[in-house]
Amino acid sequence: MALIIDPWGAELHTDYEKIVKQFGLEVFDSALFPQPNRLMRRKTVFAARDQKIIADCIKRKKPYYALTGIMPTADKVHFGTRMVVEQLRYFQEHGAKTYILVADLEAATTRGVSLETARKRALDFHIPAYLALGLDPKKTTFYFQSENKNVLHLAYEAAKHVTLNEFKAVYGSADPARIMAAVTQVGDILFPQLEEPMPGVIPVGIDQDPHIRITRDVVARTKSAHNFFPPAGIYHKFTPSLDGSLKMSKSKPGSCIELPEDPQEACKKIMKAVSGGRKTIDEHRKLGAEVEKDMVFELLKMHLIENDNKLDMIYQQYKTGAMLTSELKQIACEKMTAFLNDFTKELEKARSHVDKLKFISF
Ligand code: TRP
Repeated sequence: MALIIDPWGAELHTDYEKIVKQFGLEVFDSALFPQPNRLMRRKTVFAARDQKIIADCIKRKKPYYALTGIMPTADKVHFGTRMVVEQLRYFQEHGAKTYILVADLEAATTRGVSLETARKRALDFHIPAYLALGLDPKKTTFYFQSENKNVLHLAYEAAKHVTLNEFKAVYGSADPARIMAAVTQVGDILFPQLEEPMPGVIPVGIDQDPHIRITRDVVARTKSAHNFFPPAGIYHKFTPSLDGSLKMSKSKPGSCIELPEDPQEACKKIMKAVSGGRKTIDEHRKLGAEVEKDMVFELLKMHLIENDNKLDMIYQQYKTGAMLTSELKQIACEKMTAFLNDFTKELEKARSHVDKLKFISF
């Protein structure tokens, strides 16, 4: 049976290598990219489509774009969002035209969020949160799906070039709301090329690959009309849940740290997280930690420690038993507290700038 990745999150697959093979993805190669960021260096970004084309644009300073969409369904974001923003920021700092759209139509049709609520949430929280996580507001173009006629026209055009069977094969199911959301997303992904075809990169969690595949298929079938570049994809892993399962999820609040979150609460969760520590201190000193099983180390690696040498030092000390689990957790708690406090501060700052942002509408 074909392995299906559901972008709405029903089924998850741990075996990242298998995903790469099964979907014909490229293994991500950080050596192609100048000054790779933390996620790229540590293989949190692990797969791609057409990465060489994007790397080439960066090296030769050719025009390209990076784009993502915000689903304004809740008043919080999580570490997965932070990864998307860090990737966008990398490309923004390396010459990409940057677009962020609010998927208000998608939220309305698939989640029952009204357009007004979606707008309010995006302006009050999501957009400021993306800026707080490091995007440059002056270099970013924003729009709402419902206000971009060009995107909707592209969506209708895309609809002519996909079949129901394809939707079923790619998504596993094909109800009308999902189909509408998916063709709209194709419109989003291709919209920056309407003026001038150029390569673009969409950084996403691996569960969002189906959208990129469909878009690439549509590009192939509209060659004569548009000559679009197929979108490149850069894929990152999930942030594992503190209980040891694959993905942090709001449905398990004890094992998921959201943004924003009270640092004290976050530290409590870290203290209870699944660790690779041994049963007794003696045993731990003798055998060292099972670092591969340690969710707190994973958190430090993916999100909290920027410096590679420092991370390596912690790894060595923990692996050899010189560092105890309680000490590792203490480091994570301190780093997390600093990060969360900084996020809250930056969020407030960004909120006061929202009215000055560049929104486009047609
Ligand atoms: N479907 C995406 C989500 O669920 C949101 C989205 C809409 C998007 N258009 C996009 C993401 C274009 C990337 C690119 O979060």
